[in-house]
Amino acid sequence: MSSNLGQETRLAFAEAKQGQVFRFWDKLNQVEREALVSQANQIDLIELREGLQQALNLDLSEAQSFANIKPTPWISLPADLDSEHCWKDAHEQGEELLRKGRVAAFTVAGGQGTRLGYNGPKGAYPVTPVTKKPLFQVFAEKLKAAEKRYGKNILWFVMTSEANHSQTKEFFNQSNYFGISSSSIRFIQQGMMPAVLETGEIILESPSRIAMNPDGHGGSFRALANSGATEEMIKKGIEIISYFQVDNPLAPFLEPSFLGFHASTGSQMSSRAAPKTGPEEKVGVFCLRNGSLTVIEYSDLPEKLACHMQSDGTLTFKAGNLAMHAIDPSFAHKLGKRTHDCKLPFHAARKKIPTIDEKGNPVSPKKPNGIKLETFVFDALPFAKNPCVIEVSRQDAFSPVKNADGIDSILTCQADQLRKFARWARAVGAEIDTDASGLPSINFEISAGFALDHEEFALRWEEVGKPSILEGTVFT
Ligand code: UD1
Repeated sequence: MSSNLGQETRLAFAEAKQGQVFRFWDKLNQVEREALVSQANQIDLIELREGLQQALNLDLSEAQSFANIKPTPWISLPADLDSEHCWKDAHEQGEELLRKGRVAAFTVAGGQGTRLGYNGPKGAYPVTPVTKKPLFQVFAEKLKAAEKRYGKNILWFVMTSEANHSQTKEFFNQSNYFGISSSSIRFIQQGMMPAVLETGEIILESPSRIAMNPDGHGGSFRALANSGATEEMIKKGIEIISYFQVDNPLAPFLEPSFLGFHASTGSQMSSRAAPKTGPEEKVGVFCLRNGSLTVIEYSDLPEKLACHMQSDGTLTFKAGNLAMHAIDPSFAHKLGKRTHDCKLPFHAARKKIPTIDEKGNPVSPKKPNGIKLETFVFDALPFAKNPCVIEVSRQDAFSPVKNADGIDSILTCQADQLRKFARWARAVGAEIDTDASGLPSINFEISAGFALDHEEFALRWEEVGKPSILEGTVFT
């Protein structure tokens, strides 16, 4: 057995006061040693030290920095003739960008899906009410329908992480890429960060394995830049990355007016927002902090501010973050390269991290024992020129699957999909019973391949002879 294996790495870790990572070295076999060294080599010890320091400082400064926050102005949904004109112009501009092939789709799907408790990549989770199509298929069908409508191929970037990269690729492969050409899809893998104790020491998951987690969706900038994705986009004349989360099947990621507003305002990063359903809703809020657009996460917003009302009875901080952004590829590239003036801060999340005791026996902590470090995509907003927030109708655009049951679960998401289908169907005169919330009494489904929006549904429904809609009807 070579005694020099990983010598440099082990030395660097010892110098950085992380020597404990190799404390079982003498008991490991060659394969285990190689695996541990290779994992350790992925870690940038300086970034880790600085990132942790910054995250802990952020924790402290967060508490004091609510003095200078204000609600953000946003482009609200059309309410009068003037604003209708603006929305129409933005829509036309967005359609032009799509016809010219200037837009790429980008799904972040590298999360661990802990709350959902699903054993597999979240994008494989069955989500539609009748045919139980998986999330990835729902997005693929929207993408194909937009390609057909605008006559251009649309590149689709899917961000995975070490935990689900090969499973995700395998899932697309087995599903025949949902009818999309495999050459239009790029899987890019995000980076990982080690979990640490409050003191900064890296945690071991087993004697030969470091506890690591994906580096947060802010890691998407680095993943895009390091994989060559941003360079490819720039070369191909792509001007907008349409970013959305894998958990939201309603995401209208190729809807033109948002893209048009982003372009016409000269923004480097724009975001969609909808009024929060109430103070307790678990979405971040857009606001101005010291004059810069930013998102304050739901877990950080003090209750007093979350509940604060304006004189018209609406929440003061109401602009809920729906996690859909339009991003300029050159801006993403710059952030991904983490130049000195452009680094996203790390945030600390205190979690129960499975680890080992001094003898190497597994320990499942009952309370948080360590810190996961993540960066957030919306922390890029303060670096962006002309960042812009644009309202979207929540009922058409947002119903995430995050939890196994209760709020934001498969049940609430399927009900929201059904309400949307029922609105489209009732608007054309189809007979459908609904309850007061608009939930139909039957299950049926409209795929994006049949209609991408309610206008298209009206046309297609006529074309197919205005059929009755019954339990289990599927429009494909
Ligand atoms: C997130 C937003 C919140 C927003 C809400 C809307 C954060 C910190 N907060 O909350 O402001 O209002 O969504 O639904 O994101 N992901 C990765 N890699 C990672 C971590 C996450 O790809 O390293 C992806 C996940 O696959 C998921 C998404 O990012 O699609 C959101 O992550 P999650 O941790 O579930 O955020 P939320 O708490 O739901």
